[in-house]
Amino acid sequence: MAKEKVLVVDDEPMIRWTLTEALRGWGYEPVEAATVQAALASFDNEHPQAVLLDINLPDGSGLDVLREIKRRSTNAVVIMITANVLIEDTISAMRGGAYDFIGKPINLNELQVTIRNGLEAGKLRKEVTMIRSERSRMFNFDQIIGQSIAMTQTIALAKKVAESEASSVLLQGESGTGKDLLAKAIHYGSRRSDGPFFPINCAAIPGTLIESELFGHEKGSFTDARARKEGLFEQAQGGTIFLDEIGELELGLQAKLLRVLEEGAFRRVGGLKDLPLDVRVIAASNRDLKSESERNLFRLDLYYRLSVIQIDIPPLRDRGEDVLMLTDYFVKQFNEKLRKRIRGLTPDVAEIFRRYNWPGNVRELRNVVERSMILEDGEHITSTYLPRGLWTEAPIRQHHEAPTTGAPTAALPAAPAQPGVMFRLPAEGIALEDVEMSLVRQAITLSGGNQTRAAELLGISRDQLRYRLKKLEESSNAS
Ligand SMILES: Nc1ncnc2c1ncn2[C@@H]1O[C@H](COP(=O)(O)OP(=O)(O)O)[C@@H](O)[C@H]1O
Ligand SMILES: [Mg+2]
Repeated sequence: MAKEKVLVVDDEPMIRWTLTEALRGWGYEPVEAATVQAALASFDNEHPQAVLLDINLPDGSGLDVLREIKRRSTNAVVIMITANVLIEDTISAMRGGAYDFIGKPINLNELQVTIRNGLEAGKLRKEVTMIRSERSRMFNFDQIIGQSIAMTQTIALAKKVAESEASSVLLQGESGTGKDLLAKAIHYGSRRSDGPFFPINCAAIPGTLIESELFGHEKGSFTDARARKEGLFEQAQGGTIFLDEIGELELGLQAKLLRVLEEGAFRRVGGLKDLPLDVRVIAASNRDLKSESERNLFRLDLYYRLSVIQIDIPPLRDRGEDVLMLTDYFVKQFNEKLRKRIRGLTPDVAEIFRRYNWPGNVRELRNVVERSMILEDGEHITSTYLPRGLWTEAPIRQHHEAPTTGAPTAALPAAPAQPGVMFRLPAEGIALEDVEMSLVRQAITLSGGNQTRAAELLGISRDQLRYRLKKLEESSNAS
């Protein structure tokens, strides 16, 4: 590993000599400068990780050097050195971003520790900066796949909201439509992107604790409150709070949240004064909060406040060809993660994907792709390893559409060969629908009419069972 460079800026040659010798002894690579000019030139050319900076220089003040250095690199570690420590100097150096202050005569042991800690802090800061920029790349709007009209409109609206000063946003969409993803994109696409992003699942916090969790408490405000504690709203200052499953928030807290949103201020539990709030609240729900509030399950006034900026995320089944675009995207992702070389879907699977109604939305699609890719040995996702639900919910019709690019043409889905033959097909053939209906009837009888249990017996979802029961009813009505 290359040695870390430390720039020594002092006009006294003796001090420079002492310091550079010591630095060399500690395993660093010293660089020297005696003036403001030389210091800045050296900083630009040598890119030192730390700077030991004298305040009194012949052509100016070390504080000016500090300012210039910080303008070039906010993460630079600068340790100020001075003969007579003046309070004003200390204050302005600390304000200017100096890491620490050391008086002359220099205690070398103290300096060694300070440099080591400073470099460590500098590394951490650099890492944080890197992680931040990586995160904003990861949660960028470009990572949200979709070119359907419905999705394009949703993304455009979300971008606008991100850049606005809107203090609250409501995201509504079925489970798996991308509410988390969109909330993060809104945060990282806003002026708050350097501030914290705090996700809170309203269904997961115990009711009694949640108020102090959210707003903090003063010492002694309740039996266990031994010290003052900051709540999440306070910790999130300058950033975004993501209240997931807001529909689960207890009614009492809904009233408190409304008050906070309307007044732009909050109060700790047991506190006497309001503290100004600089937090954007993004709330998300997979239920229709309007109808929830009409049934008194959600506060209507809070719904009105939140719905000022409401973004509806369309279910995947309304996004047309996005299904195939998302599939491509996930195939690429899982190729990397699973070290596979899958090229895409066979045409019949593309057709199944198009027709299926995706009750679990993008999350379900992602899981289906992942599962198939783990199990497939060939170069394409075939129908072999698709979960049963996809088959029955999306029956294959004749397909005339052009095959997806690069995929081989297959007339009909190959019968699942690998998983072993469970039922032997009679040579004269059989009416699949009748078999299915007979199994559904048996499951209902076996479960004593319990639909959840019957669905379990058949390995399908309750919705899929209901769909079949309806068909059963229709066919018995017809006959
Ligand atoms: N438009 C999209 N483009 C890419 N990935 C998506 C998209 N929508 C959802 N995802 C992915 O699908 C999964 C479920 O999304 P998530 O945001 O957790 O949904 P929700 O919070 O609405 O249940 C996540 O892995 C997410 O990254
Ligand atoms: Mg979610």
